Amino acid sequence: MTESLNLDRRGYSRLKMNRLSLLETWQAGPRPLIVAHRGASRAAPENTIVAFRRAVDLGADGIEFDVQRIADGSLVVFHDATLERTTNERGPVQATALADLKGFDAGGWFGASFRGEQIPTLEEAVAAIPPSVRLFVEIKLGPVFDEEIERALAESLKQTGALARCEVSSFDHVSLRRFKRVAPETPTGILFSGRLIDPVAAARLAGAEAMHPAWDLIHPDLMPTAHAQGLAVVAWTVNAPEEIERLAAIGVDALMTDVPDVARRVEEHAVVEPGLL
Ligand code: G3P
Ligand code: CA
Repeated sequence: MTESLNLDRRGYSRLKMNRLSLLETWQAGPRPLIVAHRGASRAAPENTIVAFRRAVDLGADGIEFDVQRIADGSLVVFHDATLERTTNERGPVQATALADLKGFDAGGWFGASFRGEQIPTLEEAVAAIPPSVRLFVEIKLGPVFDEEIERALAESLKQTGALARCEVSSFDHVSLRRFKRVAPETPTGILFSGRLIDPVAAARLAGAEAMHPAWDLIHPDLMPTAHAQGLAVVAWTVNAPEEIERLAAIGVDALMTDVPDVARRVEEHAVVEPGLL
């Protein structure tokens, strides 16, 4: 079925997720998908519109960004629990009003030419990323565990027409299971940064279609194990050309990187080892 599909690199949104599994969808096109981590975060301030636009310019197939729900119910794109690393303000993000967040400078820390860049809302991020580019949305939870974020995220993605091009991930597998209950058609992926005893079982428990191990946990044996169970494998965060090449060669389905232009160049020269798909 998938072999008959001849999709261009960004043609995935044409596929109906209820007819093809996530793995089939991704395997129908060139792989691995190159996903810009927090946008093109080596070239522009992470999780901002300018970083997303730069990622598209650099040839990313998808863009990863982090989402939090703040006290007034808005969903904002932001990585840390607190403001100080990537804005000109301090304090907990989730306790700050949207009007205040929008007035903070989320670009000046990275470089003077990015001064005035705002923290995007989820809706602004979706609107800024062309429909042909996939969205890899990470739910960030903790230290506050917001019980409404999954429903709010599903509703927002639905309203913006983005559900069909999304994959939702989290280190919080409980949250992923909750999200799956409100958005059963949207693929999800479990993030993990340490060795799991049984990553396939962990994915199944969360109702997920993908696993997202830290890149250095991906051993060649994992690929056939995951694929045999219909699970896609997404590596993060891979920036070294030799590691991008290794992961492409063993059949990783997508890789998240701060340098999508580098990954694109490496991937074009990588040869996928037969028998590992
Ligand atoms: O999605 C992979 C990666 O984004 C998870 O780590 O801390 O960069 O959000 P972090
Ligand atoms: Ca992330």
